[in-house]
Amino acid sequence: MIVLGFESSCDETGVALVHAAPGAPSRLLAEALHSQAAMHEAYGGVVPELASRDHIRRVLPLARHVLAEAGLGLADVDLVAYTRGPGLAGALLVGAGVAVALGAALGRPTLGVHHLEGHLLSPVLGDTAPAFPFIALLVSGGHTQLMRVEGVGRYALLGETIDDAAGEAFDKSAKLLGLGYPGGPALARLAEAGDERAFALPRPLLHSGDLDFSFAGLKTAVATQVRKLGPAPSPQARADLAAGTQAAIVDVLVAKSLRALADSGLPRLVVAGGVGANRRLRERLTAGAARIGAQVYYPPLALCTDNGAMIALAAAMRVQAGVTRGTHDGAFDVRPRWPLEELAAP
Ligand code: KG4
Ligand code: ZN
Repeated sequence: MIVLGFESSCDETGVALVHAAPGAPSRLLAEALHSQAAMHEAYGGVVPELASRDHIRRVLPLARHVLAEAGLGLADVDLVAYTRGPGLAGALLVGAGVAVALGAALGRPTLGVHHLEGHLLSPVLGDTAPAFPFIALLVSGGHTQLMRVEGVGRYALLGETIDDAAGEAFDKSAKLLGLGYPGGPALARLAEAGDERAFALPRPLLHSGDLDFSFAGLKTAVATQVRKLGPAPSPQARADLAAGTQAAIVDVLVAKSLRALADSGLPRLVVAGGVGANRRLRERLTAGAARIGAQVYYPPLALCTDNGAMIALAAAMRVQAGVTRGTHDGAFDVRPRWPLEELAAP
């Protein structure tokens, strides 16, 4: 089965082709991505209407590109998948509209995929695929959740952020430090030259006893430190503050993830979403998990942030598992707000 997947929920247009066959690992045949980060940078964040318009411009050329790269034609596509939500309504509609129109023209089924399901299944495209059940830490610009994953479509929420997402904490702190958008990778780079102990920053909810997160207080603490440093902070002070911020976010993510592993008794942790690209988070999680005999699975680095491959893969896995609720014939909708638990398999 060859799946053509479209991702357009936010500021990245992603298109990919995945090959899936029973009893064999799914393979990525080709993928293409256009990031709108440079376009939105001037505004300090994503401008939804600009995002939608840019998706329209990019989506078909990217689709042609991946087909050419894989040496395939549209007639070879067995299933067309798209991100149905959550995300920006207008941006989602571009991918959904193109995918469903293509499906109708080709006489092939289409499948609307949950964006976070795409993220949390994406490590399957890595070198070693995690076996079910596992704990998943979903850390993106919009979400911070710990889930228990029993199988495709069977997700139980264990804890989540009560305010900002981890990616948002990176992005907002980066903005306070005068770094560009998206701030996560920039803050991580600046942190490399810093001393994380130079500033005492809070680790909200670290000892709350549950699996919830809170990052709004950290952002306020960073804002206070930036104000104290004045209009022209030294490069070292900025690097120190970046390192301290990163350490505070990572400490909480690691502690809660290890707690989820211990509570559940499961030895597998999957990390997905843009913040999963953070090197320090990866080092700390891998080391912490090893101490309790658990293994951590990451998607290939390029598939941590939004991409079409994870959408094509999630659709393929749904079809293989016989969980295809949400397949449409010509009609479609998008779900800008869509709790992952609603995906419970029939
Ligand atoms: O999953 P993603 O691409 O989009 C959403 O679904 O939100 O995640 C984007 C988020 C942004 O907040 C970005 O700053 C963060 O992931 N991010 C990082 C790194 N790379 C991306 N945060 C920290 N360190 C990184 N290396
Ligand atoms: Zn995402």
